[in-house]
Amino acid sequence: MGDKIRIGIIGTGGIAGAHIRAYQKMSDVEVIACSDIIPGKAANFIHQFGIEGARAFEVNADLLSLDLDGVSVCTPNAAHREVAVEAMQAGKHVLTEKPMSVTLDEAVDMVRVSKRTGKLLSVGFQPRYDPNMQLVKEIVQSGELGNVYYVQTGGGRRRGIPGGTFINKESAGAGALADIGCYSLDLALNSLGYPKPLTVSAYSSNFFGTNPKYYEFADQFQVEDFGVALIRLEGGIALNFKLSWAMHMDSLGPTVFLGTDAGLRLTPAGSGPWSGVWDGGVGSITVFHDLLGRQTQSPIDVVKHNVDIFYEKVRAFVLAIKDGLPAPIPGEQIVRNQAIIDGIIRSSELGREVEISIPEL
Ligand SMILES: NC(=O)c1ccc[n+]([C@@H]2O[C@H](COP(=O)([O-])OP(=O)(O)OC[C@H]3O[C@@H](n4cnc5c(N)ncnc54)[C@H](O)[C@@H]3O)[C@@H](O)[C@H]2O)c1
Repeated sequence: MGDKIRIGIIGTGGIAGAHIRAYQKMSDVEVIACSDIIPGKAANFIHQFGIEGARAFEVNADLLSLDLDGVSVCTPNAAHREVAVEAMQAGKHVLTEKPMSVTLDEAVDMVRVSKRTGKLLSVGFQPRYDPNMQLVKEIVQSGELGNVYYVQTGGGRRRGIPGGTFINKESAGAGALADIGCYSLDLALNSLGYPKPLTVSAYSSNFFGTNPKYYEFADQFQVEDFGVALIRLEGGIALNFKLSWAMHMDSLGPTVFLGTDAGLRLTPAGSGPWSGVWDGGVGSITVFHDLLGRQTQSPIDVVKHNVDIFYEKVRAFVLAIKDGLPAPIPGEQIVRNQAIIDGIIRSSELGREVEISIPEL
């Protein structure tokens, strides 16, 4: 490995900009190449970010034939598996954008290739680097709540349907549940130590995305804009998950952990039509105790921070490459998140509960 970590970016759309901005802040990293299947798009991107020395490609295999340490996979969801697998097989470490994939089979395939090739596979959930999210995990893991038996989580945008590749089934695979739901699932599951999901019963709908009254690209809308699921997790935990891109309500309620000794409530920061997403930050954290028969409530100070959580996620990937560390947010763990999304898609299509079975990795 040379002095600098050599990086490629695959898929030069919206989020690739956040990746390159993070890499550009690192003196020990060089972005060597970018690729995008849309002709000219990678070249424009390189020009836009002033990395004229980088090479532009329209075929990922050409980028992957270069001497690179790692790649950021910034393609739409449905291409994550194919691109990540190709990159790891070409000997590159991978930081893939969220959600990990669309189906469970795809996620399993990615983890197996990572194991076979010995290449890092990290999934880009930047809220992991929010100190408040870390605090929530610490509280749950400390045992203060006793045995946690119920969690409700999810984000509720009132009017927050994205456009472009996000509403197309072929590129996105799923809608709100996968797009922002994966963050809420990561918050809940990571705090609990990523228990295995066992069954899921889900409902989803698309009354807003398909209605021209509410959405200007209604004729192109092919995914769900609302969903709810009851997920049974190992250890006797029930997870109630709900998510919306659009609805006639301001919120679907706070995230709540109920334990045998105490309860924990956290509200998202911000308000307005696009609020309610966990990567938007934490508004408040409260622990509910029962002390000597008297109910007490302890608001916990939300950490006021100026951590650039996106930078931290990209930096953690670079440091893992440099120092030979494990993947910061390992694909092997996030398979369980993806298994739930896969189960939700199957269950809502079938209209009944389905089992979740994750094969040996
Ligand atoms: N972490 C975050 O905060 C965050 C925010 C937004 C999006 N995302 C995720 O990032 C991914 C991309 O989102 P976006 O908003 O940048 O989408 P986008 O549509 O703006 O960009 C995706 C780009 O990938 C290109 N592409 C498609 N298939 C490709 C392939 N096989 N090989 C190479 N290039 C390909 C497209 O031409 C497009 O330019 C999605 O998975 C999304 O969920 C993450």
